[in-house]
Amino acid sequence: MKITVIGAGNVGATAAQRIAEKELANEVVLVDVVEGLPQGKGLDMYESAPIEGFDSKVIGTNSYDASANSDVIVITAGIARKPGMSRDDLQATNANIVKSCTEQAVAKSPQAIIIVVSNPLDVMTYVAMKVSGFERHRVIGMAGVLDSARFRSFIAMEMNVSVQDVSAFVLGGHGDSMVPLPRYSTVAGIPLPDLMDKATIDRLVKRTRDGGIEIVNFLKTGSAYYAPSSSAVEMVESIVRDKKHILPCSVWLQGEYGLKNVFAGVPVKLGKNGLEEIIQIKLFPEEQEALNKSGADVQANIAKLSL
Ligand code: NAI
Ligand code: 2OP
Repeated sequence: MKITVIGAGNVGATAAQRIAEKELANEVVLVDVVEGLPQGKGLDMYESAPIEGFDSKVIGTNSYDASANSDVIVITAGIARKPGMSRDDLQATNANIVKSCTEQAVAKSPQAIIIVVSNPLDVMTYVAMKVSGFERHRVIGMAGVLDSARFRSFIAMEMNVSVQDVSAFVLGGHGDSMVPLPRYSTVAGIPLPDLMDKATIDRLVKRTRDGGIEIVNFLKTGSAYYAPSSSAVEMVESIVRDKKHILPCSVWLQGEYGLKNVFAGVPVKLGKNGLEEIIQIKLFPEEQEALNKSGADVQANIAKLSL
């Protein structure tokens, strides 16, 4: 198993470290345009192997040669938000970066499964699918796992319970119009509306929607990366270990949930073939309306691309 992570910045380097420590691949290749950055971080990571006890090799490089025949490619290259910026403000710059990374990576690894992390997430996943020419089951965006993890954390904090008892679902695009679904979010199997009042749920939903900017406002020079890298690696693990986890991921919808020709977050089964199934659930009219709006926002941004 070989996994390439493109972008050796905060998310990419932390993802590579987590992949190596979990031994999800024999080789982890870290690619970045900045000379010395992936080499330095890759070597530093590999020097932790004797202590952490992993046998994955970590190779840092500025060229795609070492990435040849990767099974999974994780794209994290691009600029991140600073205070005052929305994810959509990153679109023009990151579309060029994701296009160039995808072209170079798929030329060396035509059979790979691509996981996109770069923002604005749903639009960048579209760029990767379009440029690679891959079928939809091999190009998947990471956002719902992160947004759900944030919702789970806030529910656990509110109730002072183990996060392990909390499960949550967030659908839609990775933007201000994401759609957290309280009635499908549970604590020890009990739906959220049976556990807290509407005002509390609304507060936690809002904090989830604003979860990215909350971290940006603390950090000031960049955005979140510990939870985002964990989220991407959970997807990688489900694929390389063929775990068939049901995770909310951004996928190219072809009529599912009433949405067509758009990337949006929905529950999917991830296994060795990438996207193996889209799990469809019946939404209430107001939930469907929110998902439609989120899909329309992504579609409007896709329309602004010139690839
Ligand atoms: P960062 O600035 O720490 O790292 C980005 C890296 O990409 C830098 O090392 C840079 O040199 C590299 N890069 C730029 N152009 C490149 C190219 N053409 N080829 C290879 N590498 C290139 O940023 P960070 O925090 O790692 O975030 C990366 C991206 O992920 C951002 O767009 C951010 O908004 C996004 N993100 C998405 C999340 C999600 O939920 N989908 C969560 C967190 C971040
Ligand atoms: C986040 O939600 C920046 O999209 C990234 O933290």
